Amino acid sequence: EKLKKLSPTGTASSPPKKKYRSAHWFQRTDERGMHNIYIDRYLNYGLTKEELTSGKPIIGIAQSGSDIAPCNRHHLELAKRVREGIRAAGAIAFEFPTHPIQETTRMPTATIDRNLSYLTLVELLYAYPFDGVVLLTGCDKTTPAALMAASTINIPAICLNVGPMLNGWLNGKRIGTGTITWEARELHSAGRINDEEMVDMVTSGSPSVGHCNTMGTASTMNALAEALGMALPGSAAIPAAYRQRGQMAYETGVRIVEMVKNDRKPSDILTREAFENAIVANTAIGGSSNAPIHLNAIAKHIGVPLHLDDWDRIGFSIPLLVNMQPAGEMLSEDYYRAGGLPAVMAELLEAGKLPHPDALICTGGTMGEAVKGKHTWDRQTIKPFSDPMIQDAGFLHMTGTLFDSAIMKTSVISQEFRRIFLENPDDPNAFEGPLAVFDGPEDYQARLEIAPIDSRTILVMRGTGPLGYPGAAEVVNMHAPGRLLKQGVRELPCIGDGRQSGTSGTPSILNATPEAADGGNLALIRDGDRLRVDLTKRRVDILVPAEELDARRKELEAKGGYPIPPSHTPWQDIFRREVGGLSEGMVMKKAVQFQRVAQT
Ligand code: FES
Ligand code: MG
Repeated sequence: EKLKKLSPTGTASSPPKKKYRSAHWFQRTDERGMHNIYIDRYLNYGLTKEELTSGKPIIGIAQSGSDIAPCNRHHLELAKRVREGIRAAGAIAFEFPTHPIQETTRMPTATIDRNLSYLTLVELLYAYPFDGVVLLTGCDKTTPAALMAASTINIPAICLNVGPMLNGWLNGKRIGTGTITWEARELHSAGRINDEEMVDMVTSGSPSVGHCNTMGTASTMNALAEALGMALPGSAAIPAAYRQRGQMAYETGVRIVEMVKNDRKPSDILTREAFENAIVANTAIGGSSNAPIHLNAIAKHIGVPLHLDDWDRIGFSIPLLVNMQPAGEMLSEDYYRAGGLPAVMAELLEAGKLPHPDALICTGGTMGEAVKGKHTWDRQTIKPFSDPMIQDAGFLHMTGTLFDSAIMKTSVISQEFRRIFLENPDDPNAFEGPLAVFDGPEDYQARLEIAPIDSRTILVMRGTGPLGYPGAAEVVNMHAPGRLLKQGVRELPCIGDGRQSGTSGTPSILNATPEAADGGNLALIRDGDRLRVDLTKRRVDILVPAEELDARRKELEAKGGYPIPPSHTPWQDIFRREVGGLSEGMVMKKAVQFQRVAQT
């Protein structure tokens, strides 16, 4: 009997006991024949030898919340329920911190930390005895950073969103985080509110724990984690403060243990099919213009080819179904009660527009099975496919002589904008205009009110890409100067090599690659030059003779090129040396050579 028990293959009667990756640490004999020496320090806070040598899976809880990351801070509470789920399903939990990424505070920009958080999480997942991991996500970049790392490592992984805040309210009106900031800034610039009123207005959007309650980058990326199959169906939209959020934390803990037992790895879920489902979902929810950057980065790390042309080809013709700020009126509590992502996917599925209902998801089933029949009862918040908010609501992939690649989110183009810029009988989808060119947000703040800008000017922001800022700043959403705002002209088209907040409704052409600081033609244009934008042909062209542009390039090169401010920290310097452009997901170029490194 004793022999049977010790038999490594278990041939006698029981099926062979599965050895997990953690056995390499905790069930190991070293060169001198010492057993399990690695368990030592994990006993010193109360775990027992029996637990650690039982052969049960070890599950990491990648904790992204802390006092300096308030959007994700509620995870400190939720992790307890995750842990209980893991324990109930027969595994052992190790919670550990990830590098924080707080969108609203991190200087010079939070984006620079997406890749740092990615790199450090890769190291932790590689180097410690994890058989699987629960990725605690939320604020904008915390979700892609975690999914990028899980892709590189390729051990079983599942996302749990912290959940959005409750709806914000002011004077009986829904106030959405981020979106209200842009509105308040405009009112302030037009002289209609003072400093104090601006702060009160902005903070009324944030009434509880959780991430932004608009369809900004946080709501988007967590919806896409679910659309990819990497989070439990229906989990992304649950508000942070709702009891269902804690219950979902428990379910997620239970689920990851099953995934480990079945060896369901990110590479089984993050297939080309899953990315195509996510692109379609992104249009239907009115997802952030940061989504292509982050999704393309995840695809690069898991080794799935994905290009911005795919976004245009697969995603553009999909309608906007979700009536949520910034493209619509409602907020995340409404969206959750209306059914969240499963209700949106049910619309797409029934219309035959979900490209891959058979895509495998973290439950072990398929996306189609998970969302079938989950239609909403709230048609104000989630529109039927046959009567959407907007038709053809996806991103356009733009090219031309100003840049090789940029995107435009069409779902936020307002009627007013269409009237001023697009209603040209010759070509209703094209416009031309003179430029006002700003070198970074500081220049914009200093010159907005004095630069030559009228109601048909195109605003250009440069020096704000991954090299220029560094990390690519969310500053391309610019508003008109105060004198125009007072006349009722709110929206001018914006173009830039930086990004735009997902909570912004400005009609912009973003993420232009190559950026000015990387030799892009954006560096050559000047105030008063003209551009032609053609949305049908997907082109942005500089209306300046080629010889003139050549002369300007020579002049710029003689001066040493477009000025890049110095790096102030070691990471800024390393980031600048290793990073690729926004159109390629802004990944660390060398990091994508490492794929599926912990596959066992
Ligand atoms: Fe953190 Fe919006 S700032 S989610
Ligand atoms: Mg944001």
